[in-house]
Amino acid sequence: MVDSIEHDLIIVGSGLAGLRAAIEAARVSKDRLSIGVISKVQVMRSHSVSAEGGTAAVLYQEEGDRIESHIYDTVKGSDFLADQDAVEILCKYAPLEIYQLERWGMPWSRRKDGRIAQRPFGGYDFPRATFAGDKVGFFEMQTLYDTALKYKIEFYNEWFASSLIIEDKEFRGLTAIDIPHGNYYSFKAKACIIATGGAGRLYSFSTYGYSSTPDGLDMAYRAKIPLKDMEFVQFHPTGLVPNGILITEGARGDGGILINKEKERFMKRYAPKKLDLAPRDIVCRSMMTEIEQGRGFESYGMKHLLLDLTHLGEEKIKQNLAGIREIVLKFVGIDPIDEPIPVKPVCHYMMGGIDCDINGKTSIKGLWVAGEASCISVHGANRLGANSTSECLVWGRITGEQAALYAMEKASFSLPEDKVKEDEKRIYDGIFRGSGKENPYEIRRELNKIMDENCYIFRKEESLREGIKKVRELYRRAWKHVDDKDKEYNTNFINTLELDSMIRIAEVILVSAYHREECRGSHYRLDYPNRDDKNWLKHTLCFYSEDGPKIDYTQVKLIKYKPEVRVY
Ligand code: FUM
Repeated sequence: MVDSIEHDLIIVGSGLAGLRAAIEAARVSKDRLSIGVISKVQVMRSHSVSAEGGTAAVLYQEEGDRIESHIYDTVKGSDFLADQDAVEILCKYAPLEIYQLERWGMPWSRRKDGRIAQRPFGGYDFPRATFAGDKVGFFEMQTLYDTALKYKIEFYNEWFASSLIIEDKEFRGLTAIDIPHGNYYSFKAKACIIATGGAGRLYSFSTYGYSSTPDGLDMAYRAKIPLKDMEFVQFHPTGLVPNGILITEGARGDGGILINKEKERFMKRYAPKKLDLAPRDIVCRSMMTEIEQGRGFESYGMKHLLLDLTHLGEEKIKQNLAGIREIVLKFVGIDPIDEPIPVKPVCHYMMGGIDCDINGKTSIKGLWVAGEASCISVHGANRLGANSTSECLVWGRITGEQAALYAMEKASFSLPEDKVKEDEKRIYDGIFRGSGKENPYEIRRELNKIMDENCYIFRKEESLREGIKKVRELYRRAWKHVDDKDKEYNTNFINTLELDSMIRIAEVILVSAYHREECRGSHYRLDYPNRDDKNWLKHTLCFYSEDGPKIDYTQVKLIKYKPEVRVY
């Protein structure tokens, strides 16, 4: 008999979306629901803490900003693939979240007049990235965690959620491993919110924390919930060379510029109006073109460009960009006050995620998704910077409220024990005691290499097909191999479970990208060099099957804005 834990609502993931959802559920239920938050890391090690530059919201209508302008910028930034009803919700509710955080103690940076400060960000027509120096995610997380502790929310830190238990298309619970003690449990709950973030560790050069693997996405995928728009992987223009740590877009928002080997501000040739603050897909492609045409630099064996902040002056850098200055000083020994920073496009975000409706509700009764793990379709084919933390807060609140209302009404039920046992067998017989011979870390490196080489910024049929073939070969090879047979804190075991999910989701990304024969947002096909609204203005849905991913499509919700040429 597997030990079982019971809650009314279980939230998987303790980043911005998960914490915001937990607080809202506790508030809505007036602390009457029993709420559990499972996270494979300690709360303040969730990847959200590394968000740097801002949370987008319209705060200053009296100065000319408009919600409608935020909506338009987001839709245009998305290359018209965003669902416009969802974008409206994002832009309407983001300001409320900024003030809500303020009331909970968020130390937003200030203008001279004491009001909340905002900086320009890529693709926006107004400075609307609300910031706290360059440590926005850290302060937001700290504010939410402090607030969550005031409620009756139980945290299961360092627990690895493995599978959803679903019966008759209804959520019943999930299975999880308590990492410190190595015990396997089932959780019974009336409702669940998956808020497990993105999967950027599929690439080797990545801004994501090492724990950002697609366990949550895979959990839904294996449960036959489709993954939507997974071909759209965002690369951020300024990953620090050589390790990929994020150098915030706020650095360009505050006046930093990108330069090539000829000391040219090359973005003037690609985006004459917005320059370095064009959307990320456009800046990344421009950078790669510069590098491919021989105008890049080379350090640490990597081709790159430079981000120059030297003209901003010591005071501004120390005040607004202290975090990235410290990172650059510590990791490459350069002081951005005196010298430019070596940068290159880096994997940063997944526009795709678990399919759901406008409220984050999935096709499974009692199951919601929020934050980067979800695909509410706010970002379409390319997200604008600073819209992700806004999304986490807005849909953290919405899903927290909805799931709480549902759980308060829902009658109790029993957990199907056979499914709990089935998953135990999958994990312990199939993976922990698996008979594979190969080192999972070596397989993970190979997987990274495939994604780096076959599914980066510029893509084509041949390389995507080759990537799919290679990933399928990796899958057949023996990754099911755990050397460390200890029970407590067996990170080797957890890493192997993570790898299991990584291989499946890499295949989903490659197959989705292979099928989309056009260029849109972050998905650039050299063999189909145009956007094709006639055939491809649609979302990709990818379904799990024993024989590999199955692809289908669904409509984009266009409301006000018809596709137009994206010029910046
Ligand atoms: O550059 C940044 O600070 C990243 C922000 C974002 O991805 O939203």
